[in-house]
Amino acid sequence: MAGENAAPVATVPAPADDAQWWRSAVIYQIYPRSFADGNGDGVGDLAGVRQHLGYLRDLGVDAIWFTPWYASPLADGGYDVADYREINPAFGRLAEAEALIREALALGIRTIIDVVPNHVSDQHPWFQAALAAGPGAPERDRFWFRPGRGPAGDEMPTGWPSNFSGDTWTRTTNPDGTPGEWYLHLFSPQQPDLNWDHPDVRAEHEDILRFWLDRGVAGVRIDSAALLVKDPALPEVPVAPGPGEHPNQDRDELHDIYRSWRRLADSYPGTRVLVGEIWLPDIDRFAKYLRPDELHTAFNFDFLARPWDADELRASIDQTLAAHAPVGAPSTWVLSNHDVTRPVTRYGREDSSFAFAKKRRGTPTDLALGTRRARAAALLTVALPGSLYLYQGDELGLPEVEDLPADRIEDPMHFRSGGVDPGRDGCRVPLPWRGLSSPFGFSPAGASAEPWLPQPASWAALTVQAQQSDPSSMLWLYKQALRLRRAEPGLGDGPLTWREAPAGVLVFDRGERFVNVTNLSDAPVALPEHTAILLSSSPLVDGMLPTDSTAWLRTQH
Ligand code: NOJ
Repeated sequence: MAGENAAPVATVPAPADDAQWWRSAVIYQIYPRSFADGNGDGVGDLAGVRQHLGYLRDLGVDAIWFTPWYASPLADGGYDVADYREINPAFGRLAEAEALIREALALGIRTIIDVVPNHVSDQHPWFQAALAAGPGAPERDRFWFRPGRGPAGDEMPTGWPSNFSGDTWTRTTNPDGTPGEWYLHLFSPQQPDLNWDHPDVRAEHEDILRFWLDRGVAGVRIDSAALLVKDPALPEVPVAPGPGEHPNQDRDELHDIYRSWRRLADSYPGTRVLVGEIWLPDIDRFAKYLRPDELHTAFNFDFLARPWDADELRASIDQTLAAHAPVGAPSTWVLSNHDVTRPVTRYGREDSSFAFAKKRRGTPTDLALGTRRARAAALLTVALPGSLYLYQGDELGLPEVEDLPADRIEDPMHFRSGGVDPGRDGCRVPLPWRGLSSPFGFSPAGASAEPWLPQPASWAALTVQAQQSDPSSMLWLYKQALRLRRAEPGLGDGPLTWREAPAGVLVFDRGERFVNVTNLSDAPVALPEHTAILLSSSPLVDGMLPTDSTAWLRTQH
């Protein structure tokens, strides 16, 4: 599949002005299906993004990361890629993506794309060829086809658990109609896992990287980055696997793949970054992916998973910084993404921690409390050292939509859990831009179709238009915070120094004249000595910082 495409876009200027841009960058995540609909079919698209690049510039972000925009049957929201070199026709054309990358860069915004190396769509030509070729054919070697266990071959080759609950193997039917081999899929059956021991798989993905780097992208987010390599003996998962012993996670052979990708990225002008999606409980193993010749950064999901509790958040910050320091990589801070419950909803719950396994329909939440805490969390994370990810709609304080009609839900996580897990569609509802009723400017006036997921009527109060001139809004808070972050020499990458503080309060210095105070205790606290309050997530009361609030202070040398 390599090399069939037209010449790269030679006119894209290399983003070379600041080689260290990624160490402090604010990266806004675009879920293209739900950002803005330019053509009125109810589905977000690249035309919609191009119309709103000015919004992103004014918000103050340095880069945008697109979840997969490729040709895909959307069995898993685009993480089932049928052609890595074509844009999904529902979103636009390749030429539009090229124009978008250029236009964003002209506004100072770099583009990061999502690559999905662990699996392809079952509609991908390689998988279709493997199915058609039958058992024993070389086309099957690019995947994990195996005979079943048991006398009739009707038992799965392993009992590996799935990241989506349910089975990890699906049985095929031979070209002659008889029951055939099984194939591995750590996610849904529409996402067969690739065999990374096969040279075609490695060569193809390096070619895909070149294809997009040639088009001026500033980096790639690597989906399921710790899952690519499997133990070819396919043993069962040990009860308590030691480091490197899990048969399909965090295997040592992965590091050579990423070293090779790093050499490729470094061969381009400007700094093109590799960002890993790595969910690992062992933070020291996690940091190994960030050694200087491997990935630049990886998502720090530990912080996002912690409850709204000062000791928990402090422990996460300390452990994160300590694990990153030896490899010299900056931390990332992520409050949410397209897979997890929106912060406003999560922080309003009695148990405000996050885990996929815990998600249950009908968990109550207090949205006023959640919003207050999400505002405090926003300032806290913007003040932490390293780079920051902001998921579309979090800047508007959108809650998770928890009452989507059953017949509109699409997420395989919901169906494969037998309906126990509400799925991830609730954080993927199309953005409200303006107006008093759906589609809230998501689609143009006179659109032929409703938004692909219904928007709550209550979002009239949360549109960009409603918030942009309201100093008490979440959007206003984020804009001020990102503006200050750019201007403030101590913010972004760099050291953090904790100060002594009362129980439940997080106080730290960034640089010489900036202090962050986050109050997670149940009483107002006095602020340390300061010359000015730069920003506060809630109004002070009698000069004290109320519960569930963050203030940024200017201090003297
Ligand atoms: C992680 C992605 O963020 C998620 O949306 C997807 O379902 C899985 N990887 C599988 O690609």
